[in-house]
Amino acid sequence: MKKSILITGGAGFIGCHVVQLFVQNYPHYKIVNLDALTYAGNLENLTSIEGAQNYCFEKADIQDAEILDELFEKHGITDVIHLAAESHVDRSITDPLAFVKTNVLGTVNLLNAAKKAWASDLDQHLFYHVSTDEVYGSLHEGGFFVESTPYDPQSPYSASKAASDHFVRAYANTYGMRTVISNCSNNYGPNHFPEKLIPLCINNIKNMKPLPVYGKGENIRDWLFVKDHARAIDTVFHKGKTGETYNIGGFNEWKNIDIVRLLCKKMDEKLGREPGTSEKLITFVKDRAGHDLRYAIDSSKIKNELGWEPSLQFDEGIDITIDWYLNNQDWLEHVTSGAYQDYYSEHYEK
Ligand code: NAD
Ligand code: TYD
Repeated sequence: MKKSILITGGAGFIGCHVVQLFVQNYPHYKIVNLDALTYAGNLENLTSIEGAQNYCFEKADIQDAEILDELFEKHGITDVIHLAAESHVDRSITDPLAFVKTNVLGTVNLLNAAKKAWASDLDQHLFYHVSTDEVYGSLHEGGFFVESTPYDPQSPYSASKAASDHFVRAYANTYGMRTVISNCSNNYGPNHFPEKLIPLCINNIKNMKPLPVYGKGENIRDWLFVKDHARAIDTVFHKGKTGETYNIGGFNEWKNIDIVRLLCKKMDEKLGREPGTSEKLITFVKDRAGHDLRYAIDSSKIKNELGWEPSLQFDEGIDITIDWYLNNQDWLEHVTSGAYQDYYSEHYEK
């Protein structure tokens, strides 16, 4: 059977890299990109594959169950890679219900559509759910999240992702659906919406605007280059074992303040500024409510069992990322006009 893969959220940050990889590397698959084009979705992320024979785009909302049934039928969907989500923790603190609607209800709608469309040969299809390490909660000193770490989500975002993971496992157990889940650490790289730490700082350094560091900047995240995550998703989709979970990470932990200083140093060099110029923009601001202290992921299972590991060192990935933003001013200007300004003043300038 020829594969017709529904990739949801393909106009977003990670999704656009996954869609491009699949369209370019698998010309014999049909790739259907379903995205509602919220503030975070942008078709400018996909210009490189716009006219490809094996690609099509459908603007649709996963909250709408009916349209999902129609699209499964129209495109003869054989497999799903599900990335569509509300993804920003700060927004989840302001509006948790939007996260329940897309991340929980939307995922269940998608599971139902798949179950219905695949009823006669359920074991021939795969539902791949892309999740986050944040479902495991917050670590203190030492230790890593492994696949058996109990779920302990602490923010409305991570609670909604945890709920969606549970539904995917429940559909595997109850209805025999073939599913796989991966939980990844923080991604960085080109096309990242500038509400998240790294692109927000790059944009603000460029514009000589304050760099808002929450609390003391002591929180730790594990960072992975987005194209390495896309490669991992390709690996799990093709080689992962049904019913399994795979943790994906970079073994690359950084305190927020150290990342911000690194960006300042590199951008002073690239922009020809006096060393130390951008660091003066660092501004410590009120901490995020319920701010998780540390995430760190042990990705040895995917390395040992499926042979995936990160290809880029952080230093190299950060250079590529900064250069991408400096060379793609139009993209940055488009996404930071309009609604972004309202979000920014509401969140940072009140
Ligand atoms: P993103 O916010 O950049 O993109 C999300 C995409 O989903 C957007 O294109 C948006 O338009 C679309 N979308 C949102 N609501 C929708 C709806 N109701 N119907 C259809 N489309 C909708 O997110 P991202 O950073 O690319 O994350 C993608 C996935 O990976 C998410 O499931 C997220 O939880 C997970 N993840 C992200 C990270 C990270 O560091 N960004 C890390 C681990 C896991
Ligand atoms: P973020 O990029 O929002 O990802 P997540 O919350 O999913 O890890 O934030 C990364 C870290 O940076 C997190 O500890 C919060 C912090 N942060 C700031 O200090 N300032 C900011 O303006 C933002 C957006 C995040």
